[in-house]
Amino acid sequence: MSPMSEPIRTYGLNRTVVLVGLMGAGKSSVGRRLADRLGVRFVDSDFEIEAAADMTIPEIFERFDEQYFRDGERRVISRLLNEEPCVLATGGGAFLSNENRKMIGNSGISVWIKADLETLWERVKDKTSRPLLNGDDPKGVLTKLLETRNPIYETADIVVSSASGDPHEVVVNAIIEALDKADHLSVIAKNEEQNEH
Ligand code: S3P
Repeated sequence: MSPMSEPIRTYGLNRTVVLVGLMGAGKSSVGRRLADRLGVRFVDSDFEIEAAADMTIPEIFERFDEQYFRDGERRVISRLLNEEPCVLATGGGAFLSNENRKMIGNSGISVWIKADLETLWERVKDKTSRPLLNGDDPKGVLTKLLETRNPIYETADIVVSSASGDPHEVVVNAIIEALDKADHLSVIAKNEEQNEH
């Protein structure tokens, strides 16, 4: 069956899906589409922190420090995990914290969007919104982050790959399939009309 003729499904999600992975993995773009498909709210922790502080992330790092940012990140994750299941895109450092991983493990489901260095670099190299990459050797920093963080991301409940040039929908479909397999989705309604022809 071609994707065009797939029936429209309405899903029930029993846990908040927490997208983790490095900068440039596509957590926000994939998350927005995933939430749309599942019919739940999409929340981006970076955006929530910026809104609460009324400052951009580079401003927060400059006027306060990384710790201040991390505290905000922890609060957003904790709050959302106690609300209705939704899709939450986290900043690349969020899953590094033991406390965050524990909270997510208790009441969410973590999904690592895995991508290789060149794919990530292509997506972040022209942006200035990420303070960790605003120094002299951003690609070197990204390489180091990948080496040190990947073993931690790897412990996520679900791992999906995002290759360079992959449409976000491919990643979204892989996540839905994995959530379904892990019994985190129930199909509440299925519109079969499209299949009758
Ligand atoms: C960070 C990633 C950023 C943002 C902050 C720190 C990190 O989010 O939270 O700049 O430590 O990797 P994205 O992963 O959405 O770019």
